[in-house]
Parts: sequence; C-alpha cells; structure tokens
Amino acid sequence: MTREIPEEILQVKQRLQIIGDSPALIEAIKRAVTVAPIDLSVLVTGPSGAGKEFFPKIIHQFGARKHKKYIAVNCGAIPEGTIDSELFGHEKGSFTGALSARKGYFEEADGGTIFLDEVAELPLTTQARLLRVLESGEFLKVGSSTVQTTDIRIVAATNVDLTKAVAEGRFREDLYYRLSTVLIHVPPLQERGNDIILLARKFAADFSEKYMTKPVTFSEDAKRAMLLYNWPGNVRQLKNVIDQIALFEAGTEISRDKMLEALPLNRNPQATPMIAPSPDNSYEAERKMIWQMLFSMREDISRLREQIGKTEDDQPSLSGVRALMAVPRDESPFASSPLDESEKRTIEETLARHGGNKKLAAEELRISVRTLYRKMQELGIS
Ligand SMILES: Nc1ncnc2c1ncn2[C@@H]1O[C@H](COP(=O)(O)OP(=O)(O)OP(=O)(O)O)[C@@H](O)[C@H]1O
Ligand SMILES: [Mg+2]
Repeated sequence: MTREIPEEILQVKQRLQIIGDSPALIEAIKRAVTVAPIDLSVLVTGPSGAGKEFFPKIIHQFGARKHKKYIAVNCGAIPEGTIDSELFGHEKGSFTGALSARKGYFEEADGGTIFLDEVAELPLTTQARLLRVLESGEFLKVGSSTVQTTDIRIVAATNVDLTKAVAEGRFREDLYYRLSTVLIHVPPLQERGNDIILLARKFAADFSEKYMTKPVTFSEDAKRAMLLYNWPGNVRQLKNVIDQIALFEAGTEISRDKMLEALPLNRNPQATPMIAPSPDNSYEAERKMIWQMLFSMREDISRLREQIGKTEDDQPSLSGVRALMAVPRDESPFASSPLDESEKRTIEETLARHGGNKKLAAEELRISVRTLYRKMQELGIS
C-alpha cells in the first residue's frame, strides 16, 4: 500500500511525523500539499483529536509564506471580551486595563499565516471584523478609527458542523463561504482501520524511548479490540491510552483484557456503541462491559449523594437549593465553594469518558466549549 503513496506525500508525513496510510488520511494530506502554494483560504474539518493541527502547518510550510510568521489561535480558549483585541490589537485606553497600545495577530503575522482553530467559537462581532480583513485586507484596532492593512492567509479548523451553525444563526454565512474555499476533511480515527495499529505501535515506541522503559507489544486480540473501539477522542485518546499502558505494563504483551481495561466506556447515549464483543469470547466481554458500567454508575450515585449533601450543608434554605437548580451549570454562583472539587472531578471524568474530546464533553455537561475552557483554566485541569 505504501508504494502507491507519492514520494512528496511521504516526505510531508516524515517531516511532520504523521502516521497512517489510510486512503482518507492520504487524500487529506494531498489536498493540503496541492493547495499550499495557492493563496486560498482553507477550512479543515474533522472531530476533536483527529489531527487537524497538522494541516495548517503543511499549508504554511509548503507554501510561499513559509519564511513568514505562523500564528495559531485557539478561538475557543480566548474570552469573548478580549478576542477582538488579541486578533486585531487595541489602542491605549480603549478599554479598562488597556494601559498601552498592542499589536494584534493580524498585524504581527503580516505576510504569513494565521491558523484559526475552533473557528466556530468566534463571537459574531469578531466574525464581522474577520470577514472584512479577509475580503479587503483591512482592519481597525479596537478603539481606533484608522484603517490598517495586512496580508494574511487564513487556515481555519472546526470540529463542529459549521453549516448547522450557519442555519442556527451562530455563524455568518458569508464568512463560512469565504473561509471554506477549499475544504479538507480529517476522518475520525475509527474509520482509518489499520492506522490505529500503526499509531499504537508508534506511541508505544515513543514512550519507551522517551522514558527508557521496556517496550510493550500487542496481542492479536488486543489489536482487534483497538480496531473495534470507537475512539471518541480519536488520535489524542489513543495516545493517552497507549501512554498509560506503556507505563503500567512495560515489557509485557498486552492482552485483550488489559486493553479493554484501558478503554473508557462511552456513556454518551448518542455515541456509537463502545466495542463489539469478539465472536470467540462474547460472554466474557459482555460481562466485563456490564461490570464496568455498574462500577461507573456506583461512582455517579455516590458523587450525586456527596453533591446533594454539600449543597444542603451550604444552603440550608430550600430557596438556596432552588436558586442553584435554576442557574445554568456554567453560571453557578458557588464558583469558589467546596463544590469546586466535585465540579473538577465531574469535568475530568466527562473529558476522560470522551477521550479528551471537549466538544462531546461540553455537550454532555450542557455548557459551551468556551465555558468548558474557562472552567478548565479556573479549576486547573490540563
Ligand atoms: N496521524 C497522526 N500521526 C501522529 N500523531 C497524530 C496523528 N493525528 C493526530 N496525532 C496527534 O494526536 C494529537 C491530537 O491531534 P490534534 O491536536 O491535531 O487534534 P485536533 O484535530 O486539532 O483536535 P481538536 O479539535 O480537539 O483541537 C496530537 O498530539 C497529534 O500530534
Ligand atoms: Mg486542535
């Protein structure tokens, strides 16, 4: 199969250390290499953890702007109040705390590339500024009336369906068309077949080299379990799982049972089932799944009990409890209360359940991705 991959693509893979030979991944790399020398906007789509961040790098490094700046901006992680200033800069005194003028990324990266990650999270006002700079190269610093110009290539990425965001009025249609001149889709890991095994081997080898531990190998059954798992957190999750296995099982051959132990159960009812039982051992696998499920339910129940207990202690009056119930989770008035610990645990567990996939975790917690980032920062979750 490797023989059919053009030399140029192999070089890109080697330079950026991209693992995988699946046709959909190779097609995505080919598109990035083809569009790199042509100054069009590119939109990279695909689920969280799938490897979208390689693509703006390919486009920058293999295009004419490679000697200019490359700036990656995570639009979901910047608070709404400061995002315009981060991107476009501000004048001194333009808002409280603007003690001096500041250049934004669009000025700093002039001549280069800006990667707008999680672009769906941009507030509508910022979307308007972005459209203007994309169409005319013009922008205004916050608090300034002097038009400035810049020459930036934009590569944007998203793990949400932007057409849906457009239909719901959360994303400007004109901006969507402007950004998505060329689309590159990074497929979910689950659809990449044997790439899963190649990646697992690579991550296991990297770990043992980095930490000088004895390498692990995978039994055929363990490989089958990996191939059947749905990997909601994609490559990021696979790396986490393999790092853990490489640490705790160093020097051994990983059995199917060990592998199943390391794969978190996906309890999002909308998600596809976690794993199909192996035909030779279905009863055993089913029993294991049920046990895992019972254990995690027990954890949930004790956590709920703990939370209710704490809420009652903190807020003896019923109206307090009602107030807590009426306020959306992300605006809880008890931000610095002992609830923090359980909130932290809830967020960590939800993230783990979704393999670090922030979008799925935010959906399950019924908060926005931006709020999830903020909470993670506040609670010290990496
Ligand atoms: N094909 C691959 N080969 C090697 N490493 C990969 C591959 N795909 C992804 N990774 C690694 O997996 C991790 C997650 O990838 P990346 O950060 O690009 O995900 P993403 O699609 O940008 O996710 P998100 O939407 O959450 O930002 C990174 O550490 C990346 O290096
Ligand atoms: Mg990313």
